[in-house]
Amino acid sequence: MANDSDGMTSANTGADVDWDARAASFDEEPDHGLRDPEVRRAWAARLRSWLPGRPGDVLDLGCGTGSLSLLASEQGHRVTGVDLAPAMVALARQKLAGRDAVFLVGDAAAPPVGEQRFDAVLVRHVLWALPDPGRALRHWAGLLRPGGRLVLVEGVWGTVEPVGIPAERLTGLLAPIAGQVSVERLSGDPLLWGAEVTDERYAVVAVSGDSGQERGEAPAAGQ
Ligand SMILES: C[S@@+](CC[C@H](N)C(=O)[O-])C[C@H]1O[C@@H](n2cnc3c(N)ncnc32)[C@H](O)[C@@H]1O
Repeated sequence: MANDSDGMTSANTGADVDWDARAASFDEEPDHGLRDPEVRRAWAARLRSWLPGRPGDVLDLGCGTGSLSLLASEQGHRVTGVDLAPAMVALARQKLAGRDAVFLVGDAAAPPVGEQRFDAVLVRHVLWALPDPGRALRHWAGLLRPGGRLVLVEGVWGTVEPVGIPAERLTGLLAPIAGQVSVERLSGDPLLWGAEVTDERYAVVAVSGDSGQERGEAPAAGQ
């Protein structure tokens, strides 16, 4: 069990998951591969409403096989994807071949993007797996351009041994970092998941009122 910077402890994080081993079959889940046109349309519509209206630079952290990266690219955004698992990055590169998109192997908590800044940092189903979510959020806020936004899609999965991060904790972590924070509940939309779900699933959009760097943590040089 880890001790986080917000004083909470994290149990059941994804630190022990072998994501490289999961890469080949990852897209078989409806909400991962978005192969069903209805599921794909549902995610495309939500993503369009969460991302900036104008084409911009989107950083997809823990991008996996690049399914959301592809939707963002189809909506006109330039995408940088980062994932710790080389097998995931290889699949993302294939999925977005020929598009204005780059994929890097690296840690989502301190992505290797140098001085580049972004209009949106997009993170789906990753924050829960990081050892210190509060620290990661502060770092990501520092990667935003003025008026940029964090788009965080998270949840608490399962009932017997639930894993994940509740919306209440996430909004608490964002309170000192972000300007305007909104929560959208996603459990009631089976089209997103390819089935009815009863556990907690949600998206948080946090728009920074300033450069982010002022409120967030200054990214370390060279990261
Ligand atoms: C549940 S998958 C989500 C993938 C993608 N965001 C999506 O929604 O389809 C979690 C992803 O996070 C990646 N990941 C886990 N910990 C990471 C870390 N510290 N830095 C970068 N990527 C990480 C895994 O390799 C995996 O691809």
